[in-house]
Amino acid sequence: MTLVSDSIRTASIHRGRRLRRTPALRSLVRETRLSPGMLVAPVFVQAGTGIRDEIGSMPGQHRLSVDQLPQHAERLVAAGVRAVLLFGLPDLKDPEGSGAWADDGIVQEGIRAIRRAVGDELAVMADVCLCEYTSHGHCGVLDGTEVDNDATLPLLARAAASLAHAGADIVAPSAMMDGQVAAIRAALDAAGLHDAAVLAYAAKHASAFYGPFRDAADSAPAFGDRRSYQMDAANGREALTEILADIDEGADMVMVKPALPALDIVAAARAATEVPIAAYQVSGEYAAICAAAERGWLDRRAAALESLTAMARAGAGILVTYFALEAAGWLREMDR
Ligand code: PBG
Repeated sequence: MTLVSDSIRTASIHRGRRLRRTPALRSLVRETRLSPGMLVAPVFVQAGTGIRDEIGSMPGQHRLSVDQLPQHAERLVAAGVRAVLLFGLPDLKDPEGSGAWADDGIVQEGIRAIRRAVGDELAVMADVCLCEYTSHGHCGVLDGTEVDNDATLPLLARAAASLAHAGADIVAPSAMMDGQVAAIRAALDAAGLHDAAVLAYAAKHASAFYGPFRDAADSAPAFGDRRSYQMDAANGREALTEILADIDEGADMVMVKPALPALDIVAAARAATEVPIAAYQVSGEYAAICAAAERGWLDRRAAALESLTAMARAGAGILVTYFALEAAGWLREMDR
């Protein structure tokens, strides 16, 4: 016989499993949902023609020449992805990184090709940095062996204006120079490019997870490292200071990078600001999932979607990810 006091005791315990019992119940109480419209696909644009080179350390990702972009853009649109983030792999590099602001630069041409192919179906973002264009691989110009902050600002501003002029909807400064957002906003406005938005890579840690990207873009620094300009990964309060400073300088949106190692910063940024927040699941985060999945140690799709969901749960509404095309397909399959 059950005593009344026993049933009262069990009735009062928290029974979280009630709402986990069936797929329909779980769907009903799901707090975070991904949709293809949140995804941004990074694209590496390579000089030359007829090039579609798979990047060794990033399986499934390619360096694409400009002539390959229309087809790629159409595939993304068909999958439901609404945005791309372009990086350039120029033929020639120099100490100033002048390829970054050339009118016929590799990304400028890439932007035009995507626009011709899909019009406004894709929001086009362009990374603004010098490291892919400098012979020394640093994100700014050098004064001796130091990266000169203030001498770099006009070059970043020029690159941003050139990219916006070529048709980028959004420019995304990632060099981590102080004052870069203000310099870029001023240059855009001076050129009459008032509609070009700025997505600031506001909190960008000096991270070990960028390794495969540097391999892909041949942009590893020739000497030293990026620790004098990218943030110390140990610092979260400083990340918030960077985010607030960039918003103050005119950033329309802010990005946290890398993503999974910095979810606390995504959440803090969400609580502290009202602007859209992007999280960048960087090359090493992608490569780690791919490598483990190749060994049969992780389920690629489940690990990718769980990671992206965690970024959204932490507060990111925009997810920059090398899984974008694939994930859009997965989400459509799951959409019921
Ligand atoms: C350019 C830039 C980098 C990444 C995005 N923009 C490289 C770096 O800072 O070394 C990394 C992206 C990735 O790892 O996927 N500064």
